[in-house]
Amino acid sequence: MKQLKFFLIVFSVLLLSPVKAALPDSAYIFAYSTLKSGGHNGLHFAWSPDRKNWYAIGPEMRFLFCDYGSWGSEKRLVTPFLFRDKNTWRCVWTLNEYDGVLAFATSENLTYWHPQIYPQLMMNGNCLEPEMNFDEKSGKYQISWLSGKGSDKKVWTSTTNDFTEFQPAKEIQLKDRLNIREEILISGNAETGTVHKVEWAVVEHLLDFKKLEDFKKIQNNESTKEDSVRFAGLKTLNATITIDANSNKKISDKLIGIFFEDINYAADGGLYAELIQNRDFEYNPLDKKGRDKSWNSYRSWSFSGNDASFTVDSVKPLHVNNPHYAVLNINKMGASLKNEGFSGIAVTAGDKYDFSVFVRNPDKKSKKLLVRLVDKEGNVIAGSSIKTTSDKWKKYQTVLTSSKTISDASLEIIPQTKGIIHLDMISLFPQRTFKNHKNGLREDLAQVIADLHPRFVRFPGGCVSHGDGLKNIYKWENTIGPLESRVPQRNIWNYHQTAGLGYFEYFQFCEDIGAEPLPVVAAGVPCQNSSTGGAGQQGGIPMCDMDNYTQTVLNLIEWANGDPKKSTWAKKRAEAGHPKPFNLKYIGIGNEDLINDIFEERFTMIYNAVKEKYPEITVIGTVGPFNEGTDYVEGWKIADKLHVPMVDEHYYQTPGWFLNNNDFYDKYDRNKSKVYLGEYAAHLPGRPNNLETALTEAHYLTAIERNGDVVSMTSYAPLLAKEGFVNWNPDMIYFNNTEVKPTVGYQVQKIYGQNSGDIYFKSTVGLSDKNEDVTKRVAVSVVRDSKSNDLIIKMVNLLPVEINAAINLKDFIVSEKIATLILLKGNPADRKVMPESSEIKVSENFSYVFPPYSFSTIRIRK
Ligand code: AHR
Repeated sequence: MKQLKFFLIVFSVLLLSPVKAALPDSAYIFAYSTLKSGGHNGLHFAWSPDRKNWYAIGPEMRFLFCDYGSWGSEKRLVTPFLFRDKNTWRCVWTLNEYDGVLAFATSENLTYWHPQIYPQLMMNGNCLEPEMNFDEKSGKYQISWLSGKGSDKKVWTSTTNDFTEFQPAKEIQLKDRLNIREEILISGNAETGTVHKVEWAVVEHLLDFKKLEDFKKIQNNESTKEDSVRFAGLKTLNATITIDANSNKKISDKLIGIFFEDINYAADGGLYAELIQNRDFEYNPLDKKGRDKSWNSYRSWSFSGNDASFTVDSVKPLHVNNPHYAVLNINKMGASLKNEGFSGIAVTAGDKYDFSVFVRNPDKKSKKLLVRLVDKEGNVIAGSSIKTTSDKWKKYQTVLTSSKTISDASLEIIPQTKGIIHLDMISLFPQRTFKNHKNGLREDLAQVIADLHPRFVRFPGGCVSHGDGLKNIYKWENTIGPLESRVPQRNIWNYHQTAGLGYFEYFQFCEDIGAEPLPVVAAGVPCQNSSTGGAGQQGGIPMCDMDNYTQTVLNLIEWANGDPKKSTWAKKRAEAGHPKPFNLKYIGIGNEDLINDIFEERFTMIYNAVKEKYPEITVIGTVGPFNEGTDYVEGWKIADKLHVPMVDEHYYQTPGWFLNNNDFYDKYDRNKSKVYLGEYAAHLPGRPNNLETALTEAHYLTAIERNGDVVSMTSYAPLLAKEGFVNWNPDMIYFNNTEVKPTVGYQVQKIYGQNSGDIYFKSTVGLSDKNEDVTKRVAVSVVRDSKSNDLIIKMVNLLPVEINAAINLKDFIVSEKIATLILLKGNPADRKVMPESSEIKVSENFSYVFPPYSFSTIRIRK
């Protein structure tokens, strides 16, 4: 308390006094971190006027955040050591207790930090409690650190000119270190760090930064929860809305698209209609990093029978990319191999299901297999049989017709002949798929997606695109061709991807729904949050392999667009059933990567190669996972430098952020790269998808339409989530094996997707209450769709009161007309609101009442 009083006095004398001369020339700062939240809270500062009394600028305020390794256990910033090197601050810190890696970052102002680097300084051993110094004599930086465990630690040192190349580590004595860390009492806790005498402006900047962050926090935390207090006494408002026909601009006609990622079982067990789980016996403990012992080749399969066995083998497999297969050794009849599907197999009475299997009879004896679907009680609801004749791998097929509609059938394979039989790629596919394609998509899910009327589909992710470590980078070419030759792999979201839903299927889906395909390939680097591959795995594909990798990106374009007569890649597409080009126009390179030198070198290489060979393709770069910060700034720098046509921005933010940053793109330079807002969603605590988040997104999308000259595309993320298998919330569409459950957020996307335009008209909203808290919660966007010539007015009211609006359309219509109104309204916490459509009369000047918490779309036909 005493300390606080002292602080307040000093602070007010220093900051509030109008007399600048009262400010000191210098003060002290203390750089430290705490072990709170496992050391994840980043770099902190305290300041002192006299080196005795210290005041935390925080507490726990994060001035530098570590971005090493995966979320959870990594991303730690421990024992930081700050060093001032002329006008540059350098910070070095401990990352963890096992990797031989240290972290470095530099900053000119202690608040904006340049990309972090994590050099490997020890091949065997860890790097702890680093220190650094500049040796004037040699002109080199000296780093030292401890390595070892407990009291058994040795001291090591290395030198570097540039923080890229380091001299081999040498052992030194503890006394040869600087040993200048100090222990300071901060808010009653002893903290260890470095003390620096600085100009007062440095302290002032840190304090200002903190004030700004506090202000942002207040804004970001705004939600409808406080509306009863915030708007206590607020009465029905009046508004005049005037739309100016003469003030208009062309905007993108591709604003609403979808982001498809195989997260939350979106693909296998989801959109991909295959009903058999682990059909290829390729489930691997590594899919789940060995954490689930039952996750192996046997997963989802069960076997019963006497004097009979089921094993998995890999000798002479069906295909080298699919090394495992089932071996049934039947000495006595009655054995059965059963698959439970993805938590049950959902079937519909009267529907037909294609069963197929690759079989080999190693004992050269033909065999008969009964194939049937059974319900939980063991009743047979569909049955057929196949005769397997070959001692080589051969595909056999039959059709099962279900006599019942149930959600939890199982598939049974019952050998009718004794002997040994090898089975692989055991598949059951509904004949009824979206557009009836073989190896197609689940009809109901695909239809709900198609109803969004998305102008493009981004795939295969997200993090799935760049993968968990170098070995997990998604390789598009592994996902085409016969199913048995595709390469299944670990899904970064800790499950298995069969690649049954591969690039051909993605492109075909795009064509089916009239959307542009937008594949995203890794920029030669894996996910910045990678947890496999060692040492944080934030390195890139070795430069000696980058030519080959770049070629695979060019091959993708050739595969999609080339002439099958001239190109082997295009021939593969034709062989798969699509001789005509897919007409690929966009390609994303990178997914919210860590933007550092490693990234830049590889991105530039791929970008230049694509630009040179396929100048007609729009390349989309990446600017990190947030709407600000190092990756955002550095990503934009690269985009500016290379004149990348478009960049992919990502931000998941609170409703308060979206509300208070409605002008985010109003400030963008129209001469720079265009923007693809590739991942966004409003996140509330608990991560619901409710009317509040949906209205917030609708409100922000009015700003997107207003800025449709700079923002070319957007996609809410993620798209799909299977109940019971959710990695991430909120999502746009939830589903289970039999139901599809679009969210309120989906309704907003659908309204925008079905009511988009390509010409934007400026409108002005005059509200009877001019309070900013009120005005910022009302948003209007007016567009015209040139194809239909319809005028579309979208209005969001995020207030708890009605607004009586007088809408002036005199520049647009002369006589009364009937328009369609789509209205979404309810309580902010509602999760199950559906839009209602009706007809309303509109005229030159008409009135409309915006209900509280509502999104209204008025479509006026030509
Ligand atoms: O949309 C879910 C994930 O969020 C994506 O995979 C990743 O790009 C982002 O961090």
